[in-house]
Amino acid sequence: MLKKQKYNLWLLSVGVIFHSTLIASEIQKKFEQTYYTSDQSKNMLSHSIEGLNDEQIDQFMLGKSFFRIPWVEAPSATTARDGLGPLFSANTCTSCHPNNGVSSIYNDIGDISRGYVQRLSIPSDGSKEHLTQLSLQGFVSEPSYGSQISINGTKNVPFEAKPKLEFETLSVTYPDGESVALKKPILGIHNQLQQLQYGKPHKEMIISNRIAQSLIGMGLLEQISDEQILANEDIEDIDNDGISGKANRVYSLVTKQEAIGRYTWKASAPSILEQTANAAHNDMSLTTPLIPKENCTQNQIECQKAPKGDALRAGTPFDLPQQRLEAISYYLKNLKVPKSVITQKEGEKLFNTIGCAKCHIPSFTLSSGAVIKPYTDMLLHNMGEGLADGRVEFLANGSEWRTAPLWAIGKREITLGKKAQYLHDGRADSIEEAILWHGGEAQSAKEQFMQLSKQNREKIIKFIKEL
Ligand code: HEC
Ligand code: HEC
Repeated sequence: MLKKQKYNLWLLSVGVIFHSTLIASEIQKKFEQTYYTSDQSKNMLSHSIEGLNDEQIDQFMLGKSFFRIPWVEAPSATTARDGLGPLFSANTCTSCHPNNGVSSIYNDIGDISRGYVQRLSIPSDGSKEHLTQLSLQGFVSEPSYGSQISINGTKNVPFEAKPKLEFETLSVTYPDGESVALKKPILGIHNQLQQLQYGKPHKEMIISNRIAQSLIGMGLLEQISDEQILANEDIEDIDNDGISGKANRVYSLVTKQEAIGRYTWKASAPSILEQTANAAHNDMSLTTPLIPKENCTQNQIECQKAPKGDALRAGTPFDLPQQRLEAISYYLKNLKVPKSVITQKEGEKLFNTIGCAKCHIPSFTLSSGAVIKPYTDMLLHNMGEGLADGRVEFLANGSEWRTAPLWAIGKREITLGKKAQYLHDGRADSIEEAILWHGGEAQSAKEQFMQLSKQNREKIIKFIKEL
């Protein structure tokens, strides 16, 4: 090839690269204008994205109102929103997700808050009934109390039980001599529950404490493709780095087929819509087309006999019909995420080099070309005995958890309005404690964190608070 031709070709390719980088940066700019908010107030997680048309804004507002309204028990004059219970944990989504953020363990008067729930299950005995439950909901419910403790009941329906929480203190010492106290919840029926109203539970009942998550970036996480999630799986740890990572495979109530699990602490819900139906059922006992049955077990006669909501009396078969369920999900999908400004570059580098980023994967490129930074791989990891709850949810076993997204984790206290807790059961009072609880596949990263100087550890924590 002539020298000049080569030069022209080179010029052309530089031009193409330059042009596509320009397009990519335009896409990113547009995306950030649509999805990011610089609001630093407690409302930071409550803004609708830009660019919705009138019809979409109506849908957003409808969803927002059903996310926020307090439901009431039937029969009532406020007909559109009766049907709460008979057995329930809270009467609105916002009681557990205040300002769309996380819950805390304790409420303002020092009692265990509504946003701190106890999920229940028993081991499968291999019977047909148990295998059906495993394939459809991923676990076997406790026969008398169901799948979650309801701390409230409507008139004439006794609540199920009240949660109890006791901790033992462990001490961890860094190689540099500094010590940190960690609080470990004491497990077992008598340590976790009191005032049981429906008799003795199954003797092998497993209770998993869960704190309500932040609802940040729900719609953006849904835009990560299955292929992108699966690309990071390494179930047999072929690359031998001690980290496997497995996607949860769950049953979808919508497609009636297997789907990749994305939401909740064990990634057992495949979509926001389905998690909304789960929440309606487990947390508020509202019937939906996806889960049409009331949240009563066979033993709960008062619950079965309680009056039905107006929607049901009027002939619509559900407390929360499809259109409203979809509106709530639409609302959650179209919320802005807080803009992150990273100044702690050294902390960022350390976070990557000690292996935190192997699970807390910083970014994904969506099909639109926009880059999001959730700091999760959406995969399940064995986090060791210390964090294990013994509960199975589809493919997640008793010590596996979904990598918690870290975006906006430093802003929790703003939406909550007080000191926040971390990890699935809120046992950690700080980001540092949360890191020190890491074990299993994350043991090596934790040990490397512990080997760092105090100054460098603080840089990592500072970086995380900027996400
Ligand atoms: C009684 C408290 C409570 C109420 C009420 C409640 N939630 Fe939740 N929510 C939780 C808890 C606890 C989790 C974590 C569940 C788990 O890991 O099993 C959660 C998780 C979620 C998630 C998944 C978040 C993620 O990052 O994976 C979504 C979405 C959600 N809730 C939506 C809703 C909606 C919509 C409503 C109202 C219809 C609602 N919630 C009502 C306690 C509650
Ligand atoms: C093997 C995968 C893995 C590695 C490596 C890992 N994490 Fe995690 N991380 C998780 C999982 C899974 C959770 C959720 C655990 C739970 O809630 O019980 C989590 C939770 C967290 C939380 C608390 C999040 C919340 O919502 O409360 C923080 C903070 C965190 N990790 C920081 C780090 C840092 C810093 C490192 C590096 C030292 C690290 N992680 C390494 C998987 C990992």
